[in-house]
Amino acid sequence: MSESVTFEPKYRLDYQAPAFRIHTTNLTFELDDHATRVTNSMELERLGDDDTLTLDGDDLELAALSLDGVALDAKAYQRTKDKLKIFRVPKRFLLTVVTIIDPARNSSLEGLYKSAGTFCTQCEAEGFRRITYYLDRPDVLSVFTTTIHAPKASYPFLLSNGNCIEKFETGSIQTVTWHDPFPKPAYLFALVAGDFDLLEDSFTTQSGRVVTLQLFVDRGNLPRADFAMAALKRAMAWDEQRFNLEYDLDIYMVVAVDFFNMGAMENKGLNIFNSKYVLADSETATDQDFINVEAVIGHEYFHNWTGNRVTCQDWFQLSLKEGLTVFRDQEFSADMGMRAVKRIQDVRIMRTHQFEEDASPMAHPIRPDKVLEMNNFYTVTVYNKGAEVIRMLHTLLGETGFQKGMKTYIHRHDGQAVTCEDFVRAMEDANDVNLSQFRHWYAYAGTPEVDVDYQFDSTTGSGSLTLQQHTPDTPGQSNKPPMHIPIRLEFVNAHGERIQVVSEHAPVELIELTERRQVVHFSSPEEKVIPALLADFSAPIRLRFEQPEDDLIAILNGAHDAFLRWDASQRIYLNALRNAIRQDDSVELSERFIDVLETAIRNQNTDPALLSLLLQPPSEETLAQEYKVIPIAAATRVVAELKSLLALSLRDALLARYAATDWQQRSFNGNAVAIRMCTNAIAQLLAYHHEDEVILRELDKQFSQSNTMTLAMGALAAAVHAEHPAAERYLAHFADQWGHEKLVMDKWLAVQSSAPGSGTAQKVELLTHHPAFDWGNPNRIYALLATFTHNLNQLHAEDGSGYALIEQAISRLNQQNPQVASRLLSPLLKWRSIPEPQQTQLKRTLERLQTLDNLAPDLHEKLSQALA
Ligand code: ARG
Ligand code: ZN
Repeated sequence: MSESVTFEPKYRLDYQAPAFRIHTTNLTFELDDHATRVTNSMELERLGDDDTLTLDGDDLELAALSLDGVALDAKAYQRTKDKLKIFRVPKRFLLTVVTIIDPARNSSLEGLYKSAGTFCTQCEAEGFRRITYYLDRPDVLSVFTTTIHAPKASYPFLLSNGNCIEKFETGSIQTVTWHDPFPKPAYLFALVAGDFDLLEDSFTTQSGRVVTLQLFVDRGNLPRADFAMAALKRAMAWDEQRFNLEYDLDIYMVVAVDFFNMGAMENKGLNIFNSKYVLADSETATDQDFINVEAVIGHEYFHNWTGNRVTCQDWFQLSLKEGLTVFRDQEFSADMGMRAVKRIQDVRIMRTHQFEEDASPMAHPIRPDKVLEMNNFYTVTVYNKGAEVIRMLHTLLGETGFQKGMKTYIHRHDGQAVTCEDFVRAMEDANDVNLSQFRHWYAYAGTPEVDVDYQFDSTTGSGSLTLQQHTPDTPGQSNKPPMHIPIRLEFVNAHGERIQVVSEHAPVELIELTERRQVVHFSSPEEKVIPALLADFSAPIRLRFEQPEDDLIAILNGAHDAFLRWDASQRIYLNALRNAIRQDDSVELSERFIDVLETAIRNQNTDPALLSLLLQPPSEETLAQEYKVIPIAAATRVVAELKSLLALSLRDALLARYAATDWQQRSFNGNAVAIRMCTNAIAQLLAYHHEDEVILRELDKQFSQSNTMTLAMGALAAAVHAEHPAAERYLAHFADQWGHEKLVMDKWLAVQSSAPGSGTAQKVELLTHHPAFDWGNPNRIYALLATFTHNLNQLHAEDGSGYALIEQAISRLNQQNPQVASRLLSPLLKWRSIPEPQQTQLKRTLERLQTLDNLAPDLHEKLSQALA
């Protein structure tokens, strides 16, 4: 039976300022696997008249409690499951709480936990309450001093936030004290104790502060840490140049741990990272891994200002720090090279995962209004759509105006816990603009749809674009007002040359769509004028604009903006896929389009990275977005058919281009990366020719002779996804070679669970018993099982095997690690868009999950939302 009565959501509008201040927090940890003793002494100040102090706590054993040095008797306080109330407290007082916790039994990886011999913490969002009783909310900022005691032999490094102020040994026990001068909320607290290899470097800030940089990795992994260290220095320099923001402590530490629920955490002065976002060398990491390391290192570093110095008032404001920081890390990556590719990759994330979330039962605005389990809101909506909203501000205000707004924001709010509203107001005030309508982006969920109607009369030289917008209803929100949508655009003529058109003497380059229906008139002397809308994906919307293939090809050849050119190719592919599904016939591409591709492939001047994107048709998940009820089997069929058609029609050109690969080139630089992207994209297509001896030889060569993980993985993935007969041989060889490298074996697990062929669920089930897999490690679960939940065809297999596999995994993880369980659940929530007979099976699966014993709030929230 589900006990929904015990789950109480919180509402954004119920926010109340804290009733107490915690001036200082003095923590002492006596580390022990099963009985770590935490002594927490806080200098508190009561702000109002209510003299009851209510602290948060979760799963804590209380060992002692005293106020101003006097132990409290039982009548002076009250304990419930998740609160500690202390009655009749004075105006200012010192409260000391001693708790005992069990880090070795903590499998949720929230709070203080021990894994693989290391103690570490994860406190965002509400993990600190699993360490001690506290005002565990982001608007309570305190100065922390942390003392750690532990046996030196097992834990030579004892780390916490800020500066190390004392260190000594008593027998075998080492004691280290850290002091963080910057007041911070508890979610930014961190502690690490373990044995590591240490990579040390330094960075001198623009004002001359010499910062010690320390990177802690598992013993033996030092050579794999160089890239992350270099990326950190690039990030520090970039934030000074582009945002004029400089680091503020004398030490910056990054620790890589193997057991971590998320990517990384920006704890003040002591970032804790999932090791997959730190460790990278060309033998074991792909180029994409390198790119991810740089992005995440940047992201956590950039939080020092956008998140730490200026933090969130409450968790509903999460996008204040995450949307902004994602925008900043995206710009950092773009400025480090391959801006266009980075943008297109970010757009792909939006269009597949974020648009899907916006259409799901868990749809929420970037600033949610109602939250049951905060961990459920670290989403592509809050992060990536949040970043798109910041990007739109950047588009509307320009780089100069945006930076003026940033300056006002930081200046006004340094040291404060603030809201999204404060951010928008800073942008408004600094630029003297009115963003009232723009604020809707924070308030409304769902992906706005913009329909376009286009007319051009060459005899009069006048044309018009009619735009109509509508945002679909989402749970709890209907009849939404029109949004403020910046639509960048270009025009090309019939020869695929970029042209300018004018409206009232000004070139038409940006339309600010604010009405439900808006008409833009323009004039041009050209014979033919083809509009190309949404340059740089200037707004997170769905654009509905049917343009003939000839026009799309003109855009593909002539638009200046790389996103527009790529998008034209994707629209051509999508049309071909949808037609084939509609007519229940094989996929067709026009000769004209094939010619365009062939020319691009044969032209040595075509940027190989952009070419690789052109050669990747939309995924099944992207195609699925086009349907209310997803024709799953047909979608899988036509996507595979399209790739094999491309391989067939372009075989010789592809092989010629492929031959240009330099198999010995290993370095991670823009050009080498671009060429490898292209090589892999070509392999993904050619592998559909199962009988072709030449291709088999090439794939074999790529798999075994290239000495980069990028190319080896490229060949392996190509073979597995195209169900090429060489796949089994490659898989076996790969496992032999890399069996001892956990992060590498994650790739091996993931490639198998994303295979389209039938019986994948059974194979994945078998792999859960393979030594490379571990139910206790989130990386393994994400690689094998979360990847499987995105395998549209096999997750929704008609025999129910996909659902059974994931149901079993979620049941097992419900209590062990609810955050991970909850991530596996998300792709199952869209049961209403799955055809029968699977729809009924899926719904039953969700209903059964709802009856799990001790159902975690993370799962309860999603299930009740989906089944409502
Ligand atoms: N603030 C971290 C980051 O984005 C993520 C923390 C995620 N925590 C969580 N409980 N889901 O950099
Ligand atoms: Zn973040």
